[in-house]
Amino acid sequence: MIELDNIAYTYGGGELLSEISLKLAPGSFHFLTGPSGAGKTTFLKLCYGVLTPTAGRAMLFGQDVREMDRDDHALTRRRIGVVHQDCQFLNHLPVADNVALPLTVSGRDTLDQVANLKELLSWVGLGHRAGALPPELSGGERQRAALARAVIMSPEVVLADEPTGNVDWEMSQRLLQLLVELNRMGKTILIATHDMNLIRAAKHHVQARVLRISNRKLQLAGADL
Ligand SMILES: Nc1ncnc2c1ncn2[C@@H]1O[C@H](COP(=O)(O)OP(=O)(O)O)[C@@H](O)[C@H]1O
Ligand SMILES: [Mg+2]
Repeated sequence: MIELDNIAYTYGGGELLSEISLKLAPGSFHFLTGPSGAGKTTFLKLCYGVLTPTAGRAMLFGQDVREMDRDDHALTRRRIGVVHQDCQFLNHLPVADNVALPLTVSGRDTLDQVANLKELLSWVGLGHRAGALPPELSGGERQRAALARAVIMSPEVVLADEPTGNVDWEMSQRLLQLLVELNRMGKTILIATHDMNLIRAAKHHVQARVLRISNRKLQLAGADL
């Protein structure tokens, strides 16, 4: 699905990431960790094709990112759901409309999908908040809305960038549980986080591999967690 072959990335200064290879197997669960500024968000962007590696090759569903046109990118956005670090909601639209935005944009906002939207909102515990505006939401509610929006197109892969930033421990456990449930439904999950406690907690619920960005390279973290 996502295959990185010896890739590097630089924003123009020195290399931020180098010699990175990774194959995300369908149905796998990964954490991506590393200190702030290590390149976790950049790495995720390489995984969904919004950035092109400056060296090496990134393949998304068998296609080289360098050869993808606009339609290919649009298709990729359906197959890879992303929970962005900063959520990025349209503040003048109610939560339900924000969550449904990917459907609206792709012209798939049919009656069936509207029923799915209701189900999805109650799955993340926001059934009663559908009409609220994003600025009225708590941190945990925002993160759950962002997760709902990431999965509304039924993607095969979910990439989550610090999905438990700015929420308390109980809420981070709840978000983790939702991601574990998605994984049990067969989705491939990659979560970027610097929260080692979250990773430790996850080990009780799911078989997860932990990747760490250290000195520009991607390493498989050992059993020292
Ligand atoms: N658009 C950009 N242009 C230039 N530098 C960037 C850009 N985005 C991120 N960076 C830099 O790249 C480094 C890694 O950022 P990021 O991938 O956001 O790390 P992390 O998510 O691990 O905190 C940081 O030093 C950051 O300032
Ligand atoms: Mg980041």
